[in-house]
Amino acid sequence: MKNLFSTEVASKLDIENPLKSIREKFNYPEDNNSSILYFSGNSLGLQPKAVESILIEQSRIWGKYGAKGYFSHWVNFHKHLIENFLPIVGAEDGEIMLMNALTVNLHLLLISFYQPTKIRHKIIIEEDAFPSDQYAINSHLHLHGFNPTTSLIKLKPQSNEKCLKTIDIINTIKSHGESVATVMLGGVNYYTGQKYDMKEITKASKEIGAYVGFDLAHAAGNVELNLHNWNVDFAAWCNYKYLNSGPGAPSGIFIHNNHSDWNGPRLAGWWGNNMKSRFSMDPNFDPIKGAEGWSISNSPIFSMAPIKASLDIYNQVGINNFIKASQKLTGYLESLINAEMPKIEIITPKRKENRGCQLSMIIKDGRNVQNYLELNNVVCDWREPDVIRIAPNPLYNTYNEIYQLVKLLKNYDKK
Ligand SMILES: Cc1ncc(COP(=O)(O)O)c(C=O)c1O
Repeated sequence: MKNLFSTEVASKLDIENPLKSIREKFNYPEDNNSSILYFSGNSLGLQPKAVESILIEQSRIWGKYGAKGYFSHWVNFHKHLIENFLPIVGAEDGEIMLMNALTVNLHLLLISFYQPTKIRHKIIIEEDAFPSDQYAINSHLHLHGFNPTTSLIKLKPQSNEKCLKTIDIINTIKSHGESVATVMLGGVNYYTGQKYDMKEITKASKEIGAYVGFDLAHAAGNVELNLHNWNVDFAAWCNYKYLNSGPGAPSGIFIHNNHSDWNGPRLAGWWGNNMKSRFSMDPNFDPIKGAEGWSISNSPIFSMAPIKASLDIYNQVGINNFIKASQKLTGYLESLINAEMPKIEIITPKRKENRGCQLSMIIKDGRNVQNYLELNNVVCDWREPDVIRIAPNPLYNTYNEIYQLVKLLKNYDKK
């Protein structure tokens, strides 16, 4: 077999890449006119070029229509976007809303989907869940008068392992049984890049009568999701990572249609009230059926508008083609690292079904390697205590960029 680590092979793969024309739709950052290697789409996705005209259009609407713009353009602005999310997260009509930021939405969802009793009061999370999720969950335990020492169950990998085994997750859920109120995991873990078996986790959680939800920050627009069919109760994600909609872009929520007539606890606001009576100033809350009933305030149009530019690209590509191209691109990075830099430990699962774009690597002298990469115009990130995360995105990264990255790593090794 030809040596994969060569510009010839990388260039051939770039020519054959069915998504090669998509990169042109993004602004690619530069540093003082020198090109960079951008592998941080798992942190902030690149800007679609169409964002500028979309923002100008909204600015013109505001200038031209003033308050009339609400009814001419903005009241249903989110609806057009939501339709395009259905295939990305595997949802049905009525199950998605765009609003707030991710952690805020997790709070709003926990108000509804964590309803502890004396018997059923535990929450199950990953030990290394993203800190913001841990703060949120702890605050809900305290809000209800429960102590994390007895009510918070943290899933830990087996000793000498970095990732969780599905069977261990399921066994933990089963063993805590009817004491569990809510299971809430990341769909893809931000640190290891492991994609969890959300279908099996949901099934096991339902069997013990718990609510189950996912933080999809690293999963939405990255891996296959079938939230409706899996019977997930709730989920939330941000749109600024794989979904390329800009810093602080409004987050998405999913609430299964099983809960569309919800009359349990929730924090309410006028944007969750039925349109018919929203402007009649009635003090009684009359919620919209489904996920929209959880929205509180009117939509931040200027931060929501870029989502359209991103979804237009996803529509053109199709989530299944994205995933196919992503598995091949990330597989190329993995093969080069394994062949050329065997001392690097990739902690992300090997099976493509159990990960998305990101590979997390433990590299000897890791912090210095990260500094060296930054000095050489590579944008990737370091996560304490010991991981460099590289996330090739098939919408804008190339095989040649991966070749150049591995070449840089090899040069560091020779120093
Ligand atoms: C897994 C995960 N959860 C939550 C957050 C917090 O997001 P936000 O600042 O939008 O609330 C992040 C941010 O990167 C994240 O990666």
